[in-house]
Amino acid sequence: MEVSLKGRRVLVTGGAGFIGSNLVRRLIKEGAIVRILDNFFTGRKKNLEGLEVEVIEGDVENINDVYRAIEDIEIIFHLAARNIIVSTKEPYKDFLTNTLGTFNILQACLERRSKIEKIVYTSSVSIYGNPKYLPINEEDPKNILNPYAASKLAAESYCSAFFETYGLPINIVRYSNVYGPYQYPTNPYCGVISKFISWALKGEPLIVYGDGEQTRDFTYIEDAIEATLRATFASPGLIFNIGTGIETSINKLANLIIEMTGSKSQVLHIEKRDIDDVRRRVMNIEFARRILRWGPKVDLYQGLKNTIEWFKKEGEI
Ligand SMILES: NC(=O)c1ccc[n+]([C@@H]2O[C@H](COP(=O)([O-])OP(=O)(O)OC[C@H]3O[C@@H](n4cnc5c(N)ncnc54)[C@H](O)[C@@H]3O)[C@@H](O)[C@H]2O)c1
Repeated sequence: MEVSLKGRRVLVTGGAGFIGSNLVRRLIKEGAIVRILDNFFTGRKKNLEGLEVEVIEGDVENINDVYRAIEDIEIIFHLAARNIIVSTKEPYKDFLTNTLGTFNILQACLERRSKIEKIVYTSSVSIYGNPKYLPINEEDPKNILNPYAASKLAAESYCSAFFETYGLPINIVRYSNVYGPYQYPTNPYCGVISKFISWALKGEPLIVYGDGEQTRDFTYIEDAIEATLRATFASPGLIFNIGTGIETSINKLANLIIEMTGSKSQVLHIEKRDIDDVRRRVMNIEFARRILRWGPKVDLYQGLKNTIEWFKKEGEI
């Protein structure tokens, strides 16, 4: 990266989670001084083992915890959120964490805005729902199909409003299906790759909802993190799709994982589910390429290989 994070005071909300803990590891490598705010709802203390970080066990829903967390901080990565499955079961809690939580971060930053250099908010491809056009551009219509998408888009709207109205320096990254080490399949809200690898290594059937011809754009964790760091140094008020621009069907993914793990597992098709019932999804990442001078470096094969190796090192999970 051209700009240095060395010695910068950084807050990562949701820093004990999958993406958060990987981000924290990278920030430490870059020489940043890192603090985490996490209520350990899905985050794990184990993810932070051996890392030199200050941990505030607290809640983004509680403004006093947020005030404490942002004290002396220059850069904020706001990742704390409830994910799609749990959101659908408890939409009110989802609203509190994802929308009110984000509002609290913005409100607290506004009160000491001169000290905050940048906030990066991590949003989701979910806000596009079943896209009208492929690949998906940032300005394409939003299609809200579940409470999670609603809460993430509402949070984005507050980010835009606080940038436009108060000049709070914020950028937004919209991730598409991130996967990689530290995505534990024991987290019921984890992604499909982590579940498939876990089942394949145990020789259990790989459960596929529907015909398996639905597609997703799978992003390797290191690529997602590199884009997130670069978003810190872009001019504020921008929104970036973060993916690969490559569409992969769930059937192809399942078969690749079976082959790569040498598993005897079979693919088991069951009735398609209502949640996240999106037929095709692939991102246009040209804006991120151009502005962030970023592009995905790890292809699906290499990303799966790294993730499978990590699973084997972790033992049975
Ligand atoms: N994983 C993906 O594929 C993906 C895709 C799109 C967007 N995102 C976004 O990226 C971010 C990180 O997701 P992840 O996959 O690492 O999920 P995760 O569940 O592993 O991490 C979320 C973290 O937030 C913490 N948290 C939840 N509620 C909190 C609260 N009220 N106060 C403080 N901390 C709280 C959890 O304990 C956890 O550590 C989220 O904002 C998510 O919406 C992820």
